[in-house]
Amino acid sequence: MIRIDSTAVRWLVPYFGRARGAWALAIVATIIASATEPLVPALLKPLLDRGFQGDGIPLWMVPATLLLIFAVRGTAGFLADLALAKITQDGLKLLRQDMFARLLDARLSLFREQNATALSNTVVFEVQNGATLLVNSVIALLKDSVSLIALLAYLVYLNWQLTLIVFLIVPGVALLIRTVSRRLYRIARSTQTATNDLAYVVEENVLAARVVRLHGSQAVQADRFAGLSGSLRRLAMKTAVAQASITPLTHMLAALALSIVISIALWQSREGITVGTFASFITAMLMLIAPIKRLSEVASPISRGLAAVQRAIDLIEKTPPESGGDHAPGRARGRIELQDVGVRYREDGPPALDGVTLAIEPGQVVALVGPSGSGKTTLANLLPRFVLPTSGRVLLDGHDVAQWRLDALRRQFALVSQDVVMFNDTLAANIAMGGEVDARRLAECVTAANLQDLVAALPEGLQTVTGHNAMALSGGQRQRLAIARALYKDAPVLILDEATSALDTVSERLVQEALQHLMVGRTTLIIAHRLSTIEHADRVVVLDEGRLVEQGSHAELLARGGLYARLHALQFASA
Ligand SMILES: Nc1ncnc2c1ncn2[C@@H]1O[C@H](COP(=O)(O)OP(=O)(O)OP(=O)(O)O)[C@@H](O)[C@H]1O
Ligand SMILES: [Mg+2]
Repeated sequence: MIRIDSTAVRWLVPYFGRARGAWALAIVATIIASATEPLVPALLKPLLDRGFQGDGIPLWMVPATLLLIFAVRGTAGFLADLALAKITQDGLKLLRQDMFARLLDARLSLFREQNATALSNTVVFEVQNGATLLVNSVIALLKDSVSLIALLAYLVYLNWQLTLIVFLIVPGVALLIRTVSRRLYRIARSTQTATNDLAYVVEENVLAARVVRLHGSQAVQADRFAGLSGSLRRLAMKTAVAQASITPLTHMLAALALSIVISIALWQSREGITVGTFASFITAMLMLIAPIKRLSEVASPISRGLAAVQRAIDLIEKTPPESGGDHAPGRARGRIELQDVGVRYREDGPPALDGVTLAIEPGQVVALVGPSGSGKTTLANLLPRFVLPTSGRVLLDGHDVAQWRLDALRRQFALVSQDVVMFNDTLAANIAMGGEVDARRLAECVTAANLQDLVAALPEGLQTVTGHNAMALSGGQRQRLAIARALYKDAPVLILDEATSALDTVSERLVQEALQHLMVGRTTLIIAHRLSTIEHADRVVVLDEGRLVEQGSHAELLARGGLYARLHALQFASA
């Protein structure tokens, strides 16, 4: 009756089809519960026909039978519910883990295409709703179909001619469902998008609470929110209309059949239908309405469930994982080479890097300078393959970074990036980042990053939990924490992207000294706007609009009088 996308169902089987035992229990229990449904009207027949006569059935039998029927049906229902919960929760756990695993290895472009709210909604809520709806619908479908068949069989047994009329209902209901379920599926997909958009506005406003207040843009944000809530409301109303129309329409069809049956039955009664038979027939027939109604409504949860699960399928199936090679030596020596590298973020935009050729020998300290937007961060991101070159090659130790196994490649780099991100965990965990925790090395890195005073002042020291993105720390403290994290990683290549920009002159000097020690024996790429911090570099590379415009030592570049000399003159004139 309902058009179900079979690929989606087949895809779900490994997750929700594993618990064979639970499915067997759920199915058997459901069949028992629904097949016994006609027993109640069946009980009416002897009760009415013989129960009210003197020599009828013994008094105790009616309550005893009733209790027995309900005990059996109750137990079966209980077991079916438990089995269902197990199927749903077991499958959900597997599915969620797979989705999260994909988030961990997805090509990084995923995070440019989808925002955090949409992704977390999919992983946390949508699969849960979808899976629960689908598994419950499968069992509801079974339960109501069996009830329907059992009740119909009983009706045929009682009086087959009358039962023919009941069959009038079925094709009408089927037609109704097909029309409505298609519509509901479409609305459900739009509803998800609208829900994500709404959640996204909330998330943005939580992050930007201060900016919004300072700029007095509450009204704009409120309008934005109202607009999106409005579309969500419209979609919900459309769903409600579609859903609400099913019940009265189904009921009208049922009432039509019922009235015909009653008329005929009354007319036939002259030919010897007993009161008991008639009462049982009508009761069983009225009991048909409930499963028919539920069967007609099962279209809605199935549509919504499929729409929700489709997002999970898209995430796992359509998001390519990052690809890497299989070159995996131990520790790299740290020779970096860029051969005519170009990077374009958008096909129609200007290149972020254009024909950059550069070689950095192991242990060299190279400073990367240039105006904002000249491509410094892009160049640094090429090395651990956070950005892929559009043309040219990037090599580490003579091997294209694309040939390296990703984990082996990334083990070679420690990075302090422009935007520091911290986990809501202890300081120690944020520094060690899942690596083994060595208390002595931890203390060394903390001291080297000039964080020892902060740690000493905290009641729980390194075991203090930092809170959401370590917001309780100052900008400079967060940056020093990021430096400690990079130091702890002890990688052969160090990339410092504005690593000391948030520090005051005194702590910058201290951290610089620490970094100076750290750079010994490591290839280091320093990106800094404050040119005073890079005077010790072996070589300075100057980028402008994505092109390498000059390179040489600090003194050479000053003498040449090019872009570097101009930038330097500007800074020291204003200082
Ligand atoms: N994810 C991205 N998508 C599209 N364009 C980007 C992206 N990241 C950077 N760009 C663009 O690429 C160019 C180089 O950016 P990049 O971040 O490398 O500059 P930068 O030299 O590090 O600048 P800054 O000194 O301000 O940090 C810029 O024009 C920027 O707008
Ligand atoms: Mg940058």
